[in-house]
Amino acid sequence: MKKHIFKIGNKETVVMFLEISELFNFNYKNIIAVFDTNTRKLFPAVLPVTEFVLNPGEITKNWLSIEGILTKALTSGLARDSLFVGIGGGVICDMTAFAGSVYMRGTDIILVPTTLLAMADAAFGGKTGIDFLGYKNMIGTFTPAKEVRVCIDLLNTLPEKEYMNGLGEIFKHGLLRDRKILTILDTKYASVLNRDRDVLTELLERSIFVKAWYVEQDAVEKGLRAHLNLGHTFGHALESVSGFSSVSHGEAVVWGIIKALESGVLMGVTPPSWLEEVRAIAEKYSYNLITPAGITPESLIAALKKDKKKKDSSVQFVLQREQGETFLSPVERSVLLKVLGKRIIRES
Ligand code: GLY
Repeated sequence: MKKHIFKIGNKETVVMFLEISELFNFNYKNIIAVFDTNTRKLFPAVLPVTEFVLNPGEITKNWLSIEGILTKALTSGLARDSLFVGIGGGVICDMTAFAGSVYMRGTDIILVPTTLLAMADAAFGGKTGIDFLGYKNMIGTFTPAKEVRVCIDLLNTLPEKEYMNGLGEIFKHGLLRDRKILTILDTKYASVLNRDRDVLTELLERSIFVKAWYVEQDAVEKGLRAHLNLGHTFGHALESVSGFSSVSHGEAVVWGIIKALESGVLMGVTPPSWLEEVRAIAEKYSYNLITPAGITPESLIAALKKDKKKKDSSVQFVLQREQGETFLSPVERSVLLKVLGKRIIRES
């Protein structure tokens, strides 16, 4: 069993790489385990815990679900020394951790991410929450899980689109701080797509280390952690305009990364060679890098302005000068109109 210990704010998170048979060994008297109907099916055995099973999908990421989890916990007699366990993708991990963070002012939380996206990003780092009034993750807390239990074998059950969703965040982590991630994605293409266990373990460990580098220094996103939003300001706009269904989060982030680098090229801060290197890897994995048909630059700009990460009156974009050289900057409307149009930007 591999294990890494990280310090996030004043709490420790232990990330463990486990076998399926080891995932449910807990040392707590009272436990509530939160699943969705898909992830519950992954574990046919009856578990010696209180269970709460939600419908899958972003649509359930709301107050009603939190109320359901908290009601189940209270009526089942869970006290503050109980454990909240979330078994699922980002939605289940974010909601279980949010419920655990407010139940009797906070219980221990263990997350068992079942998607590549949740393993590479959502389950680790302490962001919890729900969507509110049409805005994603608008209500929540910063509460790191005590443990994140990763089981690579669970990835074999994922549909292709969901797998590519998670790979997008790993790609982002490579751009931010780990060139070896990019080299693996570029040179071990077949093994990555075949979900080779060793290659995936290395990609995930590296990915978690990149995220840890940010969250250990800036647990509550006062500055540096915002770099993890590379591709997200553009990506959230695409997700929002396309109705959060046809384009997955990770696909939108990869598209958003290209839009951010194209903006940098047009602004004269990003060398075209870096954009081309990144674009070549993204194209290898068949990510769509062009604004989808029927979506206008104007509708995307309107959605960008609603991004909750805006500072003062201008939206801050995460841009790059090179691999590992990341900074925040506003982007002028004239540049946005160019990169969000249909043409491919190659140089300024
Ligand atoms: N997903 C970005 C962060 O956790 O800050």
